[in-house]
Amino acid sequence: MTLVGLVGWRGMVGSVLMQRMQEEGDFDHIEPVFFTTSNPGGAAPTMAKNETTLKSATDIAALSKCEIIISCQGGDYTGEVFPQLRASGWNGYWIDAASTLRMNDDAVIVLDPVNQDVIKNAMSRGVKNYIGGNCTVSCMLIGLGGLFEQGLVDWMTSMTYQAASGGGAQHMRELLTQFGTINSAVKPLLDDPASAILEVDRTVLATQHGLSGEETKQFGVPLAGNLIPWIDKDLGNGQSKEEWKAGAETNKILGRGEGFGTRAIPVDGLCVRIGAMRCHSQALTIKLTRDVPLDEINDIIASHNQWVKVVPNTREASMRDLSPAAVTGRLGIPVGRLRKMSMGGDYLSAFTVGDQLLWGAAEPLRRMLRIVLD
Ligand code: HSE
Repeated sequence: MTLVGLVGWRGMVGSVLMQRMQEEGDFDHIEPVFFTTSNPGGAAPTMAKNETTLKSATDIAALSKCEIIISCQGGDYTGEVFPQLRASGWNGYWIDAASTLRMNDDAVIVLDPVNQDVIKNAMSRGVKNYIGGNCTVSCMLIGLGGLFEQGLVDWMTSMTYQAASGGGAQHMRELLTQFGTINSAVKPLLDDPASAILEVDRTVLATQHGLSGEETKQFGVPLAGNLIPWIDKDLGNGQSKEEWKAGAETNKILGRGEGFGTRAIPVDGLCVRIGAMRCHSQALTIKLTRDVPLDEINDIIASHNQWVKVVPNTREASMRDLSPAAVTGRLGIPVGRLRKMSMGGDYLSAFTVGDQLLWGAAEPLRRMLRIVLD
């Protein structure tokens, strides 16, 4: 059986990956080798077969024995270990959740329901590096893949509402700690039905401003009852790195742009952190290449893959089905608020939500594993 090295399987993305691999029976097809950065020699998890002890994640010789390595360990690990591994002559498949290698010419961003042709083409050319995309981009493309496939997107703006989990597990904890501190501060006032709401509001604001350094260590500012209109690095041109990724990665996933001899589709917008737990939402304005009737658009979107679900553009359905609370833990990607905008028949609005740990991180990786194994 194929030896598959698993690195970073204990972290947040790695744990979701392990769960999905168990649900889909992926371990039936592989001989897993579990690597660790902290506990070499320790006991491997129950999915282990012959190799029941943990190997060091920096042991190049041990890594080299694997035909496939999947890493959810993060960008620093990839930056340190991947070059050494390749320099040692290892020619196996490297499947990675980190962004480090994503835009390299010898790497493909994997999202097979959208770019199976790009993946297959690369495999036939001998490409061995397959990297998961940015969570917001992957979730958006599972939702709107049909429009891109039909050549209907002239350009698109994406205004995001990104969950705390995008920063990591500690960020999720911090958000909840902040909510708790704020609630504790106003609890006596909330318990008194006669208290003045402006007094409650003043207390919330004072508590937000008074949060300790420990309570804002991850985000730097309050997120609970607030939002942060900047995600990731400042590129120095007014754009955040997260915003840059929307256009760069969408086109790379689709196999479009200069390197492919086609026009890159402009995708740009503002990325905003909000107080959701693990689902990223996005409001999209799509400039269509032609004025297609809305019922046709619904069909094109809905028929692209088995995970996208078109939500009727009604108040009731939108409130029920188009929110982080409705989508968390599910592979389905709802797309709703579909309507022609007042700018004209070739301007379409849409809203989509995706679990950033599933389609946004773990799912494309385990599906790539299965593609390699097939
Ligand atoms: N960069 C994303 C975020 C997470 O901060 O929400 C992973 O792609």
